[in-house]
Amino acid sequence: MVAYLVIMPLVVICGYPCSGKTKRAEELKEYFHRNTERKVYIVGDSALGVERNTVYADSQKEKEVRASLKAEVERKLNKDDVVILDSVNYIKGYRYELFCLIKHAQTPHCLVYCLTSDEQSSSWNRSRNPDEQYSQDIFDALVQRFEAPDSRNRWDSPLFTILKDDNLPFESISDALLKRRAPPPNQSTQSQPLTSVNFLYELDKITQEVLMEIFNAQKTSVPGDFISVPGATEKVELAKRINMAELRKLRRQFISYSKMHPIENTAQIANMFVQYLNKSYH
Ligand SMILES: *[C@@H]1O[C@H](CO)[C@@H](O)[C@H](O)[C@H]1NC(C)=O
Ligand SMILES: *[C@@H]1O[C@H](CO)[C@@H](O)[C@H](O)[C@H]1NC(C)=O
Ligand SMILES: *[C@@H]1O[C@H](CO)[C@@H](O)[C@H](O)[C@H]1NC(C)=O
Repeated sequence: MVAYLVIMPLVVICGYPCSGKTKRAEELKEYFHRNTERKVYIVGDSALGVERNTVYADSQKEKEVRASLKAEVERKLNKDDVVILDSVNYIKGYRYELFCLIKHAQTPHCLVYCLTSDEQSSSWNRSRNPDEQYSQDIFDALVQRFEAPDSRNRWDSPLFTILKDDNLPFESISDALLKRRAPPPNQSTQSQPLTSVNFLYELDKITQEVLMEIFNAQKTSVPGDFISVPGATEKVELAKRINMAELRKLRRQFISYSKMHPIENTAQIANMFVQYLNKSYH
């Protein structure tokens, strides 16, 4: 029997409340269904039938929920399935416990980190069904307590950091899990230190702010006007009106480029984005 047929990998998803974790878990499940023989099992908060605001308001209850999620993962790891743990997983110590579990089971694992700004998550929260929304207090507390994964820790590695508009790097994730092949560094943020996670976070947030500013400013300006945007000393000068779809496309391109060429000083992101837009439209 080929060695990799007997291992039962674990994907730990982590991220803020309302950061798209369940959607990513479903996408991965779909990918494994279509491309492998594996059964995929998602272990998540929803399966436990708990009311999230109640759980996170009570540290004892929260501990119990974490313990049952872990127990469920352990039970499933004994079968030939891919297990995806879809929960906030915001405690470093908890991710370490999961790592010990998979080490004991001698199975590979990886982390998929859904990186969003709190504004983004908050807006996704508002568009949810009322019974799936987080109260402001609980949300703020979880964001504040969140211990971002760091790929320098064995238990957080390999780490795939995913921004809102990214496609999941399915093949790299699959290789990391089924072939134990480390993802190529420029295809994922696998071996990027924490500063890079902050960089990605700032990149996502700042470019979104610039984009919204331009979108709004265009309602009252004419092509050729200069538009001031937050965080940038230079102004945007657009030769023509750009619609939201085009703006999003330019933002995605800029993000892809910047991910490959991260810079130390995040205060420069807004100016660089302005230059990029200016160049694209002159
Ligand atoms: C989530 O949405 C509900 C309903 O709109 C709101 O009361 C609550 O404050 C929101 N929480 C966050 C973090 O935005
Ligand atoms: C990854 O890096 C290698 C070597 O630095 C380069 O040749 C390759 O084009 C890069 N791949 C992507 C997707 O940028
Ligand atoms: C925008 O592009 C034009 C033409 O390339 C250039 O003259 C101008 O200095 C640029 N402005 C910024 C802010 O980059």
